[in-house]
Amino acid sequence: MRTDTGQVFRLEDYRPSDYLIPRTHLTFRLDPIRTIVIADLTIERRAGVDPSAPLILDGDDLNLKRIELDGIEHTAHEATPERLVLKDLPETAQFQLTIETELEPDRNKALMGLYRSNGVYCTQCEPEGFRRISYFLDRPDILSVYHVRIEAPRAEAPLLLSNGNPVDSGELDNSRHFAEWHDPHPKPSYLFALVAGDLGCLRDSFTTMGGRKVDLGIYVEHGKERLAAYAMDALKRSMRWDEEVFGREYDLDVFNIVAVSDFNMGAMENKGLNIFNDKYVLADEATATDTDFANIEAIIAHEYFHNWTGNRITCRDWFQLCLKEGLTVFRDHEFSADQRSRGVKRIAEVRALKALQFPEDQGPLAHPVRPRRYREINNFYTATVYEKGSEVVRMLATILGRETFRAGMDLYFERHDGEACTIEDFLKVFEDVSGRDLSQFGLWYNQSGTPNLTIKPSYEAGTLTLEIEQSVPPTPSESRKRLMHIPLAFGLIGSDGRELQWSSAEGGTVDGGVIHVRKRSQKLRFHGVAERPVLSLNRGFSAPVTLAVEQRPEDLIFLARHDSDPFGRWQAFNTLLTEALIAAYRCVLGGKATVFEDSIARLAGSIAADDDLEPAYRALAITLPSEADIARDIGKDIDPDAVLVARKALVGFIAGANRDSFHALYQHLHDTGPFSPDAAAAGRRALRNVLLGYLARSNDGTDIATSHFTHATNMTDLIAGMGTLAHEHPGSPQARAALADFERRHADMPLAMDKWFQIQATVPGEHALETVRTLMRHPSFSIDNPNRVRSLMGSFSAGNQSGFHRADGAAYLFFAEALMDIDKRNPQLSARLATAFRSWRSLEPIRQEKARQALVSMVKMPGISVDLGDIAERSLA
Ligand code: ARG
Ligand code: ZN
Repeated sequence: MRTDTGQVFRLEDYRPSDYLIPRTHLTFRLDPIRTIVIADLTIERRAGVDPSAPLILDGDDLNLKRIELDGIEHTAHEATPERLVLKDLPETAQFQLTIETELEPDRNKALMGLYRSNGVYCTQCEPEGFRRISYFLDRPDILSVYHVRIEAPRAEAPLLLSNGNPVDSGELDNSRHFAEWHDPHPKPSYLFALVAGDLGCLRDSFTTMGGRKVDLGIYVEHGKERLAAYAMDALKRSMRWDEEVFGREYDLDVFNIVAVSDFNMGAMENKGLNIFNDKYVLADEATATDTDFANIEAIIAHEYFHNWTGNRITCRDWFQLCLKEGLTVFRDHEFSADQRSRGVKRIAEVRALKALQFPEDQGPLAHPVRPRRYREINNFYTATVYEKGSEVVRMLATILGRETFRAGMDLYFERHDGEACTIEDFLKVFEDVSGRDLSQFGLWYNQSGTPNLTIKPSYEAGTLTLEIEQSVPPTPSESRKRLMHIPLAFGLIGSDGRELQWSSAEGGTVDGGVIHVRKRSQKLRFHGVAERPVLSLNRGFSAPVTLAVEQRPEDLIFLARHDSDPFGRWQAFNTLLTEALIAAYRCVLGGKATVFEDSIARLAGSIAADDDLEPAYRALAITLPSEADIARDIGKDIDPDAVLVARKALVGFIAGANRDSFHALYQHLHDTGPFSPDAAAAGRRALRNVLLGYLARSNDGTDIATSHFTHATNMTDLIAGMGTLAHEHPGSPQARAALADFERRHADMPLAMDKWFQIQATVPGEHALETVRTLMRHPSFSIDNPNRVRSLMGSFSAGNQSGFHRADGAAYLFFAEALMDIDKRNPQLSARLATAFRSWRSLEPIRQEKARQALVSMVKMPGISVDLGDIAERSLA
């Protein structure tokens, strides 16, 4: 593991490699503690490169056994675990290099390279894990055709999988066997994968639009095949959707997915052999919530869509990560919108963006969608690269229009298939199909920070004037910002709720319901507007910006009822709620009683009961902003305890005013039919479960929640019942009974126990720290397993504002110590968890100081990994 902290990688230092590797032949002799890897590489010197140029291969923690050049042992090399430098190379343009290394999969707890999870050999190579398997040019612009041979004892590993198509298999001595795989599509090393073990399989097939029959397999633990049915269905729908919407067809004879229980991220798009965190594959109504089902659908789609956006066209270097990730997130968002409800999906996306990306962009870890420097690339698999990266593609589609956007995508696939590309290549295809200059738009990739638009509307004699000003706040290492191109979708709404027209607009570009903001300030005039309109701004969240608009509460109430854009309606009510919560927070800080307008409770009541609206929408609308949302919108000097009190007060106020109607609706929504994971049924459960949260505040609240828990016939309702009891009535006999009952029923189901850990770790208040400490000793917990660690410690630090940000700083110290322990095994995991500190400067001074001390203690730790050191140091900078 690297622990040197010096090296910084810079975008401007990119240089093509002197050598290429057109063919890679790998042989694996698998063994838990002594795996042999023989890499037979065809090396090609790039035209014009001097034959004296050394060949420098990447390694990480490698144990070199032997090197041959064109079949002869080669001694002119320097090998360290991190590097292999070869000199005195043949003058010929091509030669064969053979490298033998020895690995210990069982001791690999970092879950990068080749490791064993639950007895199954598997690999994770993105971004730089291949160098933990063999010395290689481990960079995404080196594309190679792979042929892989795997040998293992048949009893231990009857299943031997790699990328591409199966080409051979057979028996060997000593009850060992082998399989060979060939992948005809040249690929970078980060897309290499191998899986070997004893697994069950759910099989199916798919016939592509061109008539190719593809064998589909999802590999899971024996006995769990049935739990892969939903994932399989999502896979087939993804394959069809990509043909219909993007014209993209699958290109191998097989497509395999393997679920493993120890995995650092969600899933990985290895060519023809996706590897998944089992939590994003396994589901049935008894074990998975509706959120799990939706995540499975989205992630199966995401990894499948990478086959074209990522694999066929890959990244030139890791600075271009958003080229594949932002684009692929955009594609999976569109898929889910088509499969479910577009309006509801968009609201959920924006909530996630604001919860995860906005704080990143507004704190010390801010970076552009395409970063320009990094010390550890693993720390850039961020909400900015993924989610903001997707928003940038969405803006491009908004600016160009759907048809031109599709034409640009077609050109991208045609022009760059088989290449390793940059963001410039991507933008160029859209410039070429549209004839537009996208250089100002391109700033979205290069400049960090969330832009703000200040808008002052005024209306007089048929003319609406909008004074619009843009600003981008300074972010680390970017103090001066350039002006952006911001596509702001909008509508003007008349008093009857209908869209108002205008005869002409001057002072800026307006087209198809979108204002194109490009200047620092502008005065936009709409003439021929029949009456003073109510403004619906940033419809569909067309741009990832913050808005400061003078809008009267009655206009927001009006929008919350009448905006034809569902996102606009949600946004209006959410703004009202946020303003009420911030006012209440100020009251709490000032020692005054909280007061709320009756109109808010009435609006919540009428939205909840409005049968013309989808239940899923109603559920989202009446869900109050989270404590973290409120803190983000307060912005500075935050006291999380006061936020908690303010939020509880508003929940109580809305609950009290709507007690009877919420109860009637709650009962009416009770579903007695057979379970379906579809969006409509999930929406009804979501609404009913949000109502439960309100009802839990009434006198008979514990009874209602207990009965909800007892009568639940699926995991969604079970979790809602248990969560409501644990959070609204912590420590009550009913809460304790529910937790004990759940534990007893799910003790041998780790993924279900994760939910049990999470609920307890997020019970607000001081007590949570003791709970987390205790649960770390629970038999179902394991510090080596990322899912366990995330569900207990990740949800505590990122999802429990009052508990984690205890005023005495005890949780910070505990957490810093735990991270340093995790860091010794799995630096990626510790670094990811450490981002919980990223907003420390927006806390009130006492907590700020305690958080700073915890960060400093980590930075000082001897032997801290590059990953964790990088996050801690940037957080402090
Ligand atoms: N490319 C994977 C995904 O879709 C993420 C893999 C990241 N892995 C890592 N170790 N950082 O989206
Ligand atoms: Zn991805």
